[in-house]
Amino acid sequence: VSRRALLGTAGATGLVLGTAGGAVGYAAAPAPATPLTSVGSDRAMFHVKHQPGITEDLQACGHLIAFDLAAGAGRKEAAALLRRWSATAERLMAGEPAPHGDTDVARDAGPSSLTVTFGFGNSFFTRTGLEKQRPTALDPLPDFSSDHLDKARSDGDLWVQIGANDALVAFHALRAIQKDAGAAARVRWQMNGFNRAQGATARPMTARNLMGQIDGTGNPKPTDAAFDKQIFVPASGEPTWMANGSYAVVRRIRMLLDDWEKLSVAAQEQVVGRRKSDGAPLTGGHETSPMELEKTDAKGDYVIALNAHARITRPDKNGGAAMLRRPFSYHDGIGADGVPDAGLLFVCWQADPLLGFVPVQRKLDRGDALTRFIRHESSALFAVPGGAAKGEYVGQRLLE
Ligand code: HEM
Repeated sequence: VSRRALLGTAGATGLVLGTAGGAVGYAAAPAPATPLTSVGSDRAMFHVKHQPGITEDLQACGHLIAFDLAAGAGRKEAAALLRRWSATAERLMAGEPAPHGDTDVARDAGPSSLTVTFGFGNSFFTRTGLEKQRPTALDPLPDFSSDHLDKARSDGDLWVQIGANDALVAFHALRAIQKDAGAAARVRWQMNGFNRAQGATARPMTARNLMGQIDGTGNPKPTDAAFDKQIFVPASGEPTWMANGSYAVVRRIRMLLDDWEKLSVAAQEQVVGRRKSDGAPLTGGHETSPMELEKTDAKGDYVIALNAHARITRPDKNGGAAMLRRPFSYHDGIGADGVPDAGLLFVCWQADPLLGFVPVQRKLDRGDALTRFIRHESSALFAVPGGAAKGEYVGQRLLE
């Protein structure tokens, strides 16, 4: 069982298993001379209560892809597509070749903690005549005044999140998923992201983002009593096809790095309210020490500024709003405006976006200290059903 730390400092969830034999299924491949490292042989399970790719460790490589159903494709074609996609995901996550012609791109590698996660956007239900099954939690997110959204890179009928600890394994899955779409759906947008490679640090640590901050400390932990309730739709929840599912808010957030990097480290720390070196609150201690929000300095000013990002986003400042942030960083070179097109593929998970993302983003939209260093450039919301039982495909309870 993987023991690497995941989101925040919580430790592994136990959903990633090592496969003793390493890569399986490529019959022609000779057995590796030396066993695969743990990075290659780690495996996430497909048939689980909640879809894979939500509570697992952050993976080193990610692809987020939205599809629109093709003209003329409806519920029947969507059901067949989800069946194909599920079969592919199950096999690739086990380190086996794709069912319909493999490209060899992942040959020699193990599953490398590959996860493939499927979601449905608001427009999917109109396209397939399933309006009655559309959850109210999938109502469009409100407009935020600071948004600079590119509609072409927002929303989508269907969403696939791919994560793996090897770039070739992730790309292999991406191509298989794209090919499976066939004539039923076409890619609406695709975003590619990354996180730190497994084993790059001497000990498991919370990840850093491209601003250099430790990012993920305040995440709810799977061991918290309220975790399941905050992140997942209950087994008895509505609509019934969303039992054990979750809602993913996806925002491409550009970081204005040229401006950010001009700040002194002390000024950067004021923006967040935490130390850059180890993520500890500016009031002292270590990464997981509680923030002393009332503490003042010699001049009587709050040590953690009133507009510090980590103060403003706290659940206790937002009516208990909680979400599980599980992002990838991205870097797509220098933009047409001459500055880095880099930032965060912000993905956050919650049982209801109105009780998670929305109240916090409303507050951030009024302006926290981080606002002038970031720009939300695309946005999407997806209903991610629970994991498929054995013999089932993802979304079957919706589509049949
Ligand atoms: C905390 C960075 C956008 C919600 C933090 C922390 C950092 C950070 C460094 C402190 C460490 C931690 O607890 O993880 C960023 C960056 C962003 C961004 C760089 C954009 C590029 C957002 C957005 C939301 C959000 C859009 C939600 C609407 C939160 C929450 C916390 C947090 C809920 C934890 C608060 C707590 O429980 O203490 N963020 N953040 N962040 N952020 Fe952000």
